[in-house]
Amino acid sequence: MDLTGRTALITGASSGIGAAFADALAARGAHLILVARREDRLTALADTLRARHGNDAHVLVADLGLPGAGAALLAETRRLGLDVDVLVNNAGFGSHGDVADTDPDRLTGQIQLNITALTDLTRAYLPDMVGRGRGAIVNVASAAAYQPVPHMAVYSATKAYVLSFTEALWAETRNTGVRVLALSPGATETEFFDIAGESARVGRQQTAAAVVARAMRALDRPSGPGSVVSGLPNIVTAATVGFLPRRLSLLVTERLARGRN
Ligand SMILES: NC(=O)c1ccc[n+]([C@@H]2O[C@H](COP(=O)([O-])OP(=O)(O)OC[C@H]3O[C@@H](n4cnc5c(N)ncnc54)[C@H](OP(=O)(O)O)[C@@H]3O)[C@@H](O)[C@H]2O)c1
Repeated sequence: MDLTGRTALITGASSGIGAAFADALAARGAHLILVARREDRLTALADTLRARHGNDAHVLVADLGLPGAGAALLAETRRLGLDVDVLVNNAGFGSHGDVADTDPDRLTGQIQLNITALTDLTRAYLPDMVGRGRGAIVNVASAAAYQPVPHMAVYSATKAYVLSFTEALWAETRNTGVRVLALSPGATETEFFDIAGESARVGRQQTAAAVVARAMRALDRPSGPGSVVSGLPNIVTAATVGFLPRRLSLLVTERLARGRN
């Protein structure tokens, strides 16, 4: 995909996988719109990438956990006269713990950010991409999208939504020139576990750069699949888990996801 001079909006760009997307897209010649809540982080990243690659980098501070955040972001990019060619819906968080013990706001917060904001932003920017006959939307799902994960029940359900929604959208837009992709990382070295809880950390971790490189390779194939999983062990698990009896897979996943606490 030729990204030279195109504009990419990345949510959750202040850290981890989102920051790695910003770096990779800037290296390919894209201008950036960096979105998250922590302005200092976004500004520092924008300065670094501007200096390194010479691209434009706008910083838009937004709490995408608030209702109406998607519409507000669309209005702001329109006000600035920015057309979004690439949308990376990356902002998201999880929490480890049982549903009965978790603050209800933390549960609905995951639904608001991981599902509602992602859907709103997709709906906001897709029509213009279809009208231009080009563009890309990357929605960051998770290896946890491929089976229910006890102790991260809401998080894994939100990611199952992201995967299902994005694959359906891929089929809807296949002949429009817009490339739609769900990216499912496994455990990745980011700040995710600072928020989800250390007990959520399972298995070997990839770097954020490796995860993003997987997505960039998929984006470079115009007729590529609607979803990719990053990391061989995660690919194998995602491909095989559906063959296990559902009860067995739930019980095995419950053991693995129980954590050390
Ligand atoms: N790391 C993993 O093991 C892993 C595995 C599978 C999938 N994922 C997914 O990868 C994506 C990126 O996560 P990460 O691993 O890079 O974690 P991270 O380092 O914690 O980054 C999360 C990003 O989301 C932003 N964010 C959180 N709440 C927000 C809000 N209310 N409004 C706007 N932005 C918000 C954060 O920025 P601010 O705090 O500045 O707002 C931050 O930039 C998430 O969707 C996550 O579910 C991660």
